[in-house]
Amino acid sequence: MSKSIPQSISKIIIAIDGPAGAGKSSVAKIIASKLNLTYIDTGAMYRAVTWLALRNSIMLEAQKDILLDLLSKAEITLLPGEKRQRVLLNGFEITDQIRTPEIVKYVSQVSAIPEVRSKLVSLQQQMGEVGGVIMDGRDIGTTVFPNADLKIFLIASSRERASRRQIQQRELGIEEDLDSIQAEIERRDFIDTTRAVSPLSQAADAILIDTDQITIYEVVDKIIATLNTKLGESKKGF
Ligand code: DC
Repeated sequence: MSKSIPQSISKIIIAIDGPAGAGKSSVAKIIASKLNLTYIDTGAMYRAVTWLALRNSIMLEAQKDILLDLLSKAEITLLPGEKRQRVLLNGFEITDQIRTPEIVKYVSQVSAIPEVRSKLVSLQQQMGEVGGVIMDGRDIGTTVFPNADLKIFLIASSRERASRRQIQQRELGIEEDLDSIQAEIERRDFIDTTRAVSPLSQAADAILIDTDQITIYEVVDKIIATLNTKLGESKKGF
């Protein structure tokens, strides 16, 4: 186990990026609880907008303006939850609804819309500006908080990520075939890494961790050890 972190960490910003299923949310949640930070799952926000589009039967390309209008009036609220972060849209709980295969099918398309990104990025910046946060997503270290105190980029093979996703979905009572999950993950990787606006990419100063052969707890220990080293070096006293 890594040694403890000083109190002054309360203002820190940690960015965890990487592709779907690399372990970002599990790792971020554990670190948040160990270091008493607020965990912000930005993927849930893109999923909430996707839910808004599907709920209103919006054709993504042809009726983009309708979605943007609805989004400008929408309030997305993230609250701490038992197992995962709770998500409310205009006060209506959609925590479980945003985890369905249908949302997964369209979320990369929705998150490639530049206006959706700029709206959510500014919301995320407001949520994180006070510090004391660990935020996971695809563009946190590159776009949302390019000056984050610590940037981690998690990767794993698509097979391993698919297998982890299958276990998570099972816990929600959703049974999916491993090959289909893997194909879906690879399709999302492609859209997320090739979109025009802030595509998924590792920030130059992010630390790369391959989670294929190590447990979530080993990843957590590595990150906390890196943070301790950084805090020691910077003498900044967060
Ligand atoms: O992490 P997740 O699987 O819940 O993310 C859902 C989708 O949202 C993912 O396919 C890409 C998109 N996303 C994004 O573009 N930028 C983020 N910061 C977070 C997620």
